[in-house]
Amino acid sequence: MNEITCKLQREAERIASKHPLPKFYTRFKAPLAVAKRLFYNHPGVVRLRAIAEPEYNEALGHGVFHSARVSIDCAALVHIETNGNRMEPSAVERLMVIGIYAGVLHDICRDEQNHAQCGAEKAQRLLCDFSLSPEEIVCVSDAIRNHEAFASSTSSGRQWAQLVSDCLYDADKFRWGADTFTHMLWHMMDYQSISPGELIEKFPWGMSGAASIIETFRTATGRQFGPEIVENGLEIGKEIYRYLLEHFRES
Ligand SMILES: [Fe+2]
Ligand SMILES: [Fe+2]
Repeated sequence: MNEITCKLQREAERIASKHPLPKFYTRFKAPLAVAKRLFYNHPGVVRLRAIAEPEYNEALGHGVFHSARVSIDCAALVHIETNGNRMEPSAVERLMVIGIYAGVLHDICRDEQNHAQCGAEKAQRLLCDFSLSPEEIVCVSDAIRNHEAFASSTSSGRQWAQLVSDCLYDADKFRWGADTFTHMLWHMMDYQSISPGELIEKFPWGMSGAASIIETFRTATGRQFGPEIVENGLEIGKEIYRYLLEHFRES
């Protein structure tokens, strides 16, 4: 990453640190802690991450950081959404792990033309070698196929599989909040060699795209807490835009 982009990312992190954490991250600390434990310690997840992470394209901003955030939020959403379903704790944990598998693999084909479809097919091949039932593999694959924003999605036959699919989608779209401005934007800017001046031009268009994701959340928890996550990101974005105008308008 070049010096200017690095400096802009540091500034974005400084701006973001002044904003309070969205309620999803303060209210659901316990499910998030369970999800983190599974993400970092579950033997199957550790093995899958070792296979998948070297294949990520970090330059696009959809690498280790992004997939970890998606996986953990996806598993936490599964935990929250199944609360009250009278499911056995072991069954909830199993579904959380399936959600993490989906999170780890969802952007593995990020630089392909149709990355959701390509990722879904690749997940099917990779997971054959893991202790998953055929239905669980289809569940991960379908969730990945359905994770793209503003694209049509197919519904899964089983309620639990639909839940994983919806949780993956929402966890991925939670990234359209602060993560866009502290992380992804700068990787994309660097990868596409966008100058600060060009970024200023594209900024309002990007902000309106981020705002429109608010209407698309799929789980009850996503619909309740997702808008605040995205709006928090938009507030950070507005400050970064002002900073860019102040320092780079001439360029
Ligand atoms: Fe994606
Ligand atoms: Fe993603």
